[in-house]
Amino acid sequence: MSIFASGEPPPLAPAARADAIRLGRVNDLLRFPDGFLFGASISAYQTEGGNSNTDWWWWEHIASTPCREPSGDACDFYHRYGEDVAMLAHFGLNSFRFGIEWARIEPAEGEFSRAALAHYRRVLEACHERGVVPMVTFHHFTVPRWLHEMGGIASERFPSLFERYCDRAAAALGDRIGYACTMNEPQGLGSSGWLLGINPPGHTDDRDGAQRAVDNLLEAHRRGAAAIRARAGVPTGVTLALPDLQYEDGAVPGSSSLELESKVSDWFFELARRDDFIGVQTYTRFRYGPEGPRSPGHDWSDTTRELTETDETTQMGYEFYPEALGGAIRRAHLTCPGVPILVTESGIATTNDQKRIAYIDRALREVLACLGEGIDVRSYMYWSLLDNYEWALGYAPTFGLVGVDRQTFTRHPRPSATWLGSVARAKVLPIYGEVARSAAGAGTEPVQSV
Ligand code: BGC
Repeated sequence: MSIFASGEPPPLAPAARADAIRLGRVNDLLRFPDGFLFGASISAYQTEGGNSNTDWWWWEHIASTPCREPSGDACDFYHRYGEDVAMLAHFGLNSFRFGIEWARIEPAEGEFSRAALAHYRRVLEACHERGVVPMVTFHHFTVPRWLHEMGGIASERFPSLFERYCDRAAAALGDRIGYACTMNEPQGLGSSGWLLGINPPGHTDDRDGAQRAVDNLLEAHRRGAAAIRARAGVPTGVTLALPDLQYEDGAVPGSSSLELESKVSDWFFELARRDDFIGVQTYTRFRYGPEGPRSPGHDWSDTTRELTETDETTQMGYEFYPEALGGAIRRAHLTCPGVPILVTESGIATTNDQKRIAYIDRALREVLACLGEGIDVRSYMYWSLLDNYEWALGYAPTFGLVGVDRQTFTRHPRPSATWLGSVARAKVLPIYGEVARSAAGAGTEPVQSV
């Protein structure tokens, strides 16, 4: 019998019954609750293409840019959203997280584009037509060029300008939005833009700027979330990058950039206690010993770090460690008890799609374990639906369930897409250690869960 089969199982011969009872119990443990959202995420800037009115476009084109290549047309998602949403639904996924680009919606200060808002409404409609719940991110790293020129997120005007943008976008789109994420991973933006110089505006060691940016982001989330709720009444929250920080052999927490980010996350958690959900995102763990960092790729701010994939690491140079998701969910739960958790990003950059399936499989087992502990987890959104443009690195890593030909923009779904879609349809994971089948017709090799 297919492990993905839904509905009533066929009658069993008596000899098979004892085993079936045992497997039935196992299956219950591997079952996701009704209403659980399985989906994939993208951001606007990394997929739409042509976002020339943003700070990142400026950053990609200055002589000292750390970016290997400009984002250019990216995946041309701006024009191809219809086929992409249809494809996601066809896999069996029931939710899609995408971003709206502030620079398109408000191309000049105080001037709002009806055409851009109408465009995003069409993207939302495409989701509804396919039975896909849309999760919308209002800010995913980029700001309009005019705002960048007045200081970006470190400008004292940032919180009120963000509030107004949220208000206008929620007024135009809110009735079609399923879940609203005010900001993506704001915990890292102060340090990456003002201390480390790896994001616009590219300042280094500007402690005042970093502090202003963090204070403004906190205030902007508070005000933006209130505006979205007031206008549209949709569940609203913030998404945080929560790598699993593990201290071993008596190591004590230090002040690496990752650990500073983690402290900023605690401030966002304070606000999130009053939110409708908390968005959890994680990719790996970082281990620390008394001698210092023990994990490969631990200095994720070093854009020249080794990006070679091995059996133990991913294309991003991180340790292959899907179990980080359990650590991130438990941290969010302990810090914000009672607040529902959405896994808004979890993923792996790899050239080996079987490894991607193994990663998702193990990450989903972590979600099930957390559900079993009584934690209210409501979604698993894989990053990314498409092979996206990667911040400061250019096109190199392949995160996608779907490959994208950069010349023709042709989409090439990978076996992992149909595999995750099959799990989503059945709401059950294959039994651990058993051969996980790709969806029928995918024409792919069977995959051994690891
Ligand atoms: C970000 C994405 C990014 C991904 C992989 C996440 O932190 O939200 O924009 O592409 O990590 O680096």
